[in-house]
Amino acid sequence: MSVLLSAPPTLSNAFIDLTSYVSDEDLEKLDVTILECLKNRLAIDVETSKFTAENMVHADALEFCDRDTSTWCVSDVFTPFSGKDDFRQCRGHRGDSRTWRPNQNAFEVPGMMEFVRSLPFFESTGKCALIFNKTGDKGVEHADHELDDLVSEFVWIRTKSSNKQFYVVDNETGEKCFVPRTGARVGWFDDHLRHNIEEVTENEGGGCWSIRVDGRFNEKFRKIIETSGFFGKQNESQEWDGGRGLQGILATQQNGPTFLQRENEYPETESEEEEYEEEVEEYEVEE
Ligand SMILES: [Fe+2]
Repeated sequence: MSVLLSAPPTLSNAFIDLTSYVSDEDLEKLDVTILECLKNRLAIDVETSKFTAENMVHADALEFCDRDTSTWCVSDVFTPFSGKDDFRQCRGHRGDSRTWRPNQNAFEVPGMMEFVRSLPFFESTGKCALIFNKTGDKGVEHADHELDDLVSEFVWIRTKSSNKQFYVVDNETGEKCFVPRTGARVGWFDDHLRHNIEEVTENEGGGCWSIRVDGRFNEKFRKIIETSGFFGKQNESQEWDGGRGLQGILATQQNGPTFLQRENEYPETESEEEEYEEEVEEYEVEE
């Protein structure tokens, strides 16, 4: 009885478990691919980067695609007038196959993109990253964004040798909802919701990792996520969401996020304009 009481809540709400849609064989193969990749990553020519959240290092990352923004000016009506707009524009293109092209890491670890191409969830895929932590890492609890006009289309994957203990916070109850702690798992959660890992206490037998594949859901899985998803809070309703909040936003994104196809206004007030100029300067420096 005490075991039951202390067990973490299952992700009945905040995480849609899609594991049954991916074959055990493909998940096994991916597990071997990742184990080899992490074991040999210093010997083979793969590049890692830091994955930050709330200006802190959350994990290390191995990106399998590089970003090419050259199509944005012809494919979007949306114009970035501020740092916030830049962020919206970037997030809006995470699942865009024209933006994300397989890179050197993908070439060095061919099993990764092979797995991505076999997934049944997407019309097309965009960004793909392996996120990993070392013993002692605590991660950073965070939400990926607070955008009222975007729902992220992606799947989260943990293969069986990863001991990543991952949770999503149910924003209605404040409860940490853990992904079942053992075995391979594939799923979706709304990244408006806060999420993080438990401190990594040991990496024996594998390590701590997950993969995030962004894309554009196909009709079948858009409907599944739309009808059974648990969505975060939308602060301001959008005229095209049909009064259905973020659920309605997801339904409209079959050709990409709707806001990218709508004209947005240049900041009107002086202070907004100043903010815009400052943000542009910051952005240019960063570039
Ligand atoms: Fe995140």
